[in-house]
Parts: sequence; C-alpha cells; structure tokens
Amino acid sequence: MNADRHRWVRWPSGPGRARLGFGADYNPEQWPREVWDEDMRAMRAGGVNIVSLAIFSWARIQPSEDVWDFDWLDEAMDLLHAHGIAVDLATATASPPPWLSAKHPEILPVDRNGHTVWPGARQHWRPTSPVFREHALRLARALAERYGGHPALAAWHISNELGCHNVYDFSDDAAAAFRAWLRARYGTLDELNRAWATSFWSQRYSDWSQILPPRTAASYPNPTQQLDFKRFSSDALKDHLRAERDVLRALTPDVPVTTNFMVMGETKGMDYADWAGEVDFVSNDHYLLTGPQAQDELSFSANLTGSLAGGRPWYLMEHSTSAVNWQPVNLAKRPGGMARDSLTHVGYGADAVCFFQWRQSAGGAEKYHSAMVPHAGVDSDVFRSVAGLGATLAALAPVAGTRRLRAPVAIAFDWDSWWAGELDSHPTSLLRYRQEALDWYTTFLDAGVRADVVDVDDDLSGYRLLVAPILHVVPAALARRLEGYVASGGHLVTTYFSGIVDEDDHVWLGGYPGALRDLLGIRIEEFGPLPDGEAVDLDLGVTGTLWTDRIDVTDPATEVVATYKTGDHAGRPAVTTRRTGAGSASYVSTRLGPEGLGAVLPHLLDVAEVSSELPPEARGLVDVAVRTDGTDDYWFLINRTDRRVDLSAIPGDPLHGPALAADTTLAARQVRVLRRPRA
Ligand code: GAL
Repeated sequence: MNADRHRWVRWPSGPGRARLGFGADYNPEQWPREVWDEDMRAMRAGGVNIVSLAIFSWARIQPSEDVWDFDWLDEAMDLLHAHGIAVDLATATASPPPWLSAKHPEILPVDRNGHTVWPGARQHWRPTSPVFREHALRLARALAERYGGHPALAAWHISNELGCHNVYDFSDDAAAAFRAWLRARYGTLDELNRAWATSFWSQRYSDWSQILPPRTAASYPNPTQQLDFKRFSSDALKDHLRAERDVLRALTPDVPVTTNFMVMGETKGMDYADWAGEVDFVSNDHYLLTGPQAQDELSFSANLTGSLAGGRPWYLMEHSTSAVNWQPVNLAKRPGGMARDSLTHVGYGADAVCFFQWRQSAGGAEKYHSAMVPHAGVDSDVFRSVAGLGATLAALAPVAGTRRLRAPVAIAFDWDSWWAGELDSHPTSLLRYRQEALDWYTTFLDAGVRADVVDVDDDLSGYRLLVAPILHVVPAALARRLEGYVASGGHLVTTYFSGIVDEDDHVWLGGYPGALRDLLGIRIEEFGPLPDGEAVDLDLGVTGTLWTDRIDVTDPATEVVATYKTGDHAGRPAVTTRRTGAGSASYVSTRLGPEGLGAVLPHLLDVAEVSSELPPEARGLVDVAVRTDGTDDYWFLINRTDRRVDLSAIPGDPLHGPALAADTTLAARQVRVLRRPRA
C-alpha cells in the first residue's frame, strides 16, 4: 500500500495517546436493553476501548424502504461514549434486509449453474447490482449524516468481509459489468480474442454481447476468461468498497475508513494487495485453522497483512477467543492460546486486537461461536483470560504506532499466480499455491530466520534472499525486475511451475521455466507431476511429492545442489543454483514440504549470507516478530512448541512475559515481549 495514505483510528480523546485497541463486534440489537448496561460494566472491567457496531443492523436501522429507526443506535453510541469506548461504525450494508430482496430480487447473486442464491443467511447481494448499490449508498449516507459528528466515532467500517460469500456472481448484471471491464482492459475485440486464445475450440467472439462469465460449460471454460473473471470479481467488490468510501469521505473527510480483509487460509477471491491502497488503514480478520501448521499459518497471515499495510500498524478486526462454529470439528483454544494468537498479530503489526464478537449469541447461526463473554457469563475462564489480555495490551502501549523491522528474507506472494496456478486442465489438480508459500515460511521459522511475506510488486531490493514459490504468472516486466534484483546482488529462489505463463495465461515458449529460464540457467521440456501418495527420493536424504521436472542445465554457472535418486528423473538435478555476479537464482523442482526444504535451506542461506538472529538453542522454538520505533526494537518471542523454551541468551527489558525479568523461560503458548535498544 501507499504508506503515506495511512490514517489511523481517530481516538475520541484526541490524537497522540498511544494505545492498542481492544474490543469486538458489538451487536446490542440482539439483546434486551438491560443487558447493555451489564455490557458496559464488563467492557470496562475487561479493558475494552473500541467496538465495531451495526455490522448486521440494516434491517433494524431501516425496517422498510422509507422508515428509519436510529433511536437504538443513538442510544448505543451515546452509552459507549459515556463509558469511554470508541466506535468503529459499520455502514451496515453487509446483509440486505428481507424487504429489499423481496422487492428487488434482481439484487440476488446467481451461481455458475444459473441458480439464484436466496436470502435467509447473509451477504446475498450482487456486487454489480445498480439497485443494491443505490440502496447501500443511501444507507451509508444516512449513517454518515447522522453520526459523522458523534464523539464516539473513531472510524468507518465498510460493509463486512466484502466477498466472504458473494465474490463470484454469474448473473446478467455481472455479465454486463464483466463486458465493460473487458472493454476497458482490452479496448478491442481483436485484442480480447488474442488474449483469450479464442482460436482454440472455435471460441472467437464477433460481438461483445456474446461474452459471458465462465458459467458451467460442457468442458473446461477458457482459462484466460476464468482468470479475467477472477480479476474482474475482485475489482467489482473493490468498486463497491470505493463507492461507499467516497460517500463517507465526502461527508466526513476527517474520519478514517477501513474494511475488514480476510487474509487467511484459502480465502483467495480478493486481491488485497490491490485493495490495500483504497483504505485509510488495513484491517484483517483471522481465524486459527487446524492442522500441524495452524500457528504458522496465523503468523504467515499476520505477516502478509503487515506488508499490505506497508509496514505500518493495522487493525485485527476479528479473531476468536476460543472455538468457531464453521469447521467440521470446532476445538476450544487451550489455556494461553487466545493471548498467544493475539500477541502474534500484535508482533506482526496489529495495533488493535478485536474479536467476533462481544457477547456470545443465544440464537442464530453463530450461537456456538465463542465470544469475549461466553454463554457462561463473565464468571468464566474465557472472560478472565479476556480481561488478562486487556491488561497485557494496556502494558504494551509503547509498541503502538511502531513499524515492522524489515527481515533479511522475503517470501513473495502473488494473487495472479495463486489464481492462475490453480486453474483446471493443468498438469496436476493437486497443486496448492498458498500451501507451498506456507511451507517455506515454516521452514524459515524452523531455522529461526525472520522472513517478511510481501506482495510480489513491493520493493524487493532490500531483501538479501527472496523466495517466490510457484511464481506461475510472470509478465515480461516482472521477469525484468527479478533479473534486476539478481543483477544487483539479490538471491532469488523459485520453485516448480514458476515462470510458465504471461499475464494472459499464455505459455512462454522455448522450454520451461519460460520467463525465468535464462536467469535460472536451466531448461525443462516436460513436467513430471506425481500421482497422489507417490514420492521420489533426493540425494539429500529427503523426499519430494506432487511434482518433478526433467531439468537440463544450460549454463556452466548453474550448480546442481540436489539430485533425484529415484523416479523417472533419477540422476538428474532436483535443485539448482546459478550464481551470477554478486547474486544468484535457485530452483527447487519438487514439493519438499517444511522438512525437505529444511535440508535445502542451509545452502540457500549460505549463498545469500543470511543467518539467524537467535541464539542456537532458541532457533525453531520461537517465532520472532520485531517492531521498531527507530530507537528501540520490540521483540515478540512466541513459543511455537509445546515445551518450555530457554530464552536466557536473549537480553532485553521485558514489557510482557512470564514473571517479567525473573523467569527467562517460556512455557508452551507463552509470549515474551522485550524492548531492546537499536543496535
Ligand atoms: C466472519 C464474520 C463474522 C462472523 C465470523 C465467525 O467471517 O465477519 O460476522 O461470522 O466470521 O467466525
């Protein structure tokens, strides 16, 4: 993002008072009025200083087209303000009320099979519906006019998780908007026909009106059409974000605007690198997933969110105190888990830690989702740990406003490669872009080496080592940038299925990895994907899965770092490094997973002259996130293991941690925050 645009929450008591935000989505409309007073007491006891209000309140605020009911919201705003709690006020447009969808069924999304997505849950609106847009902007305007001057108002919260349920809409509105988007991108039908390679399968268009979204077809829809539809769908939601934002900015130019992103897991419909510049500060929602890399995935997501925010603070809008309700089995967090998750986000730049939601609902679809106040009430372990976290965040006020300290290593993330790399009719359907990126991240955590997860379009020049996993889409300009990075002494690492296509999803001819072939000093004629469950051995003593390549070395400066021992390519290179000038370009041709990558990493670190900042006994045991105010650095040491970790060799002034200075060990799930003067 353009970091100059950054404008943080407007705390009601005036700017300059450094603090970390702490709170939740607050849904008072679900409760009788007397509960609100209890809420205020408990919020204060828990250290809550900000809440998001009115996220799903459209039907309550506007019970019918020309009837408005603001009384309850006036009262909630006043009450919160009287208790010193700031409000991130939603535009309330996330879920249209029944009267609107009944009167205007043309706002309802349509799936790829032509079926209507009916109301009854939430977010049943087409991002491109002019009718929905008109009603949503009317509501946003009404809220801005009424509450723009309210002293509790700290920020605007546009909609909610834009695209959570409605990113892909195949309706006629979407078709018309898609055509307009394509006209803007390609200018002429000839150019579209070229980009979409429509000479294949007799798909040539002779009129714009013939073009449709990739609805269910007889076989694989045109891949460039699919990729463009993904780009368009992200843009359509971004357009909605901008439309609401512009209404708010016109009426309340001093109030910062945000919307909650979903940088987590396999949520991939929205290109947040492209969206980040549209908001005054970046917000994210993250829920802990399950599996052996769950904690690393949280760290990865927080880290990437920090990059989207340009290294500036960002707002954790939602996570959970304990279980969620939408996984196959919803596990409660173990003691210490909630604080550890929260502080990991803070370490990676969050200046506000908020939850879905304040009080656990008694009815509705999310009644089994945890909250700050559980069904058991405030006399509960969950609420006691919430209050403990509130106190911790108050003690961590010195980190508020500090920036990320750049790591020596970057992992480049690219939405286009995520989208295009996982399209159908490919060498394998088993490839998972984000998983490969996460495996690299885990590998760096295991080695105790800090790595920033960055957008591929960010300035990469300061990183000694740059890993670009499955960088599938490489337009010519990106190939030039990467060549420039290596020429100026950078050390690039990429993997299987990288450099294969340009921005139109057309293969770079002459042998793989196409756009990166010369830089890597290798050539591949045919891909060698592996069936599920099959593995090949490498001479490093590790195994590869998913993919292999039959590599020919084409440059004498390319060194073979590892060789296949088994499989069709036995005896041939599996991992290579080409040194050129002060830089290098390495290629990993198979999926090694964190364990296998761990065997290759020492070589890559060696070539790039990168080493861990941690003492040997702590490497791999703690996740280290570092923030800085330029004078002091703040080290967040997060225990990633289930055992006690000795941190006595890492000195510093403890801002948070077990018994502060007295104990230099960290128990499972504990976090220590140290203030250390800049070296
Ligand atoms: C988010 C959403 C919240 C709540 C939460 C449950 O997707 O913004 O409203 O549904 O998930 O985990």
